[in-house]
Amino acid sequence: MTAQIIDGKAVAANVRAEVGKAVAERVAAGKSRPGLATVLVGDDPASHVYVSSKRKACAELGIESFGFELPADATQDKVEGLVSELNADPRVHGILVQLPLPSHLDEEKVLRAISIEKDVDGFHPINIGRLAQKGRDPLFVPCTPAGSLVLAQTVIPKLEGCNAVVLGRSNIVGMPVALLLVRANATVTICHSRTKDLPSVVRQADVLIAAVGRPNMVKGSWVKPGAVVIDVGINRIEDPTHPKGSRLVGDVDFEEVKEVAGAITPVPGGVGPMTIAMLMQNTLRGAELSDK
Ligand code: GUN
Repeated sequence: MTAQIIDGKAVAANVRAEVGKAVAERVAAGKSRPGLATVLVGDDPASHVYVSSKRKACAELGIESFGFELPADATQDKVEGLVSELNADPRVHGILVQLPLPSHLDEEKVLRAISIEKDVDGFHPINIGRLAQKGRDPLFVPCTPAGSLVLAQTVIPKLEGCNAVVLGRSNIVGMPVALLLVRANATVTICHSRTKDLPSVVRQADVLIAAVGRPNMVKGSWVKPGAVVIDVGINRIEDPTHPKGSRLVGDVDFEEVKEVAGAITPVPGGVGPMTIAMLMQNTLRGAELSDK
């Protein structure tokens, strides 16, 4: 039997609809319209595409967006100065600095400059630190990890007691998703390029989150029959048979794994749409925090 395909587009559309409704209600009640500032440094084409999708989603939900573009050679002071202005701007409830930043910039220092009350990416060390500590709550949870968990929970609403395996340990996905799974009382294994016998570790997973950035890495033989597989990878590979000459694939070999897994997210149309939906939810939350 082939796996259930988890429709990230549909789940994301529901989240966005709920956010749009809450935005309309708060504006009708005389409260501030949520506002998101995006900061893009340099001319990475993929980053431009991501930021314009985020701003388009804002427009659809009645969230104000303020776009800032700085040249690739912008100084650390310039970027941090812009962040300080946005911290002080009452129209802005969320600040998103698109990553990666050009290599001459100190990314950690830029992220630390963002007010934790406007940290809609959830990457500020205080928010990440709170996520990692029992009994403490971050103000915001990173979007892709949060969206990955929502998709897993469409199949297994209570992750408590599950064996969860996270493949990858990045700051943006692997580490925070592992922390979220621990908070959901799953038993969590983080594995990576130095893990011994990766396939046998991955095969323990009731829930597998693949976030390594290697096209089609996870094979059918690596997956426990019936497992829930969340594929965070977005990799462009050459394909002469495709009209564009290339296409997007995940970190999971979809054709093989769908024959073994119980449920699987496609690429595109799985985790990707959830990232933006969760960002919209976080921006609404930023506005709600500013009411208090
Ligand atoms: N680059 C890749 N993913 C993300 C993300 O979730 N947020 C930001 N700011 N940059 C990214």
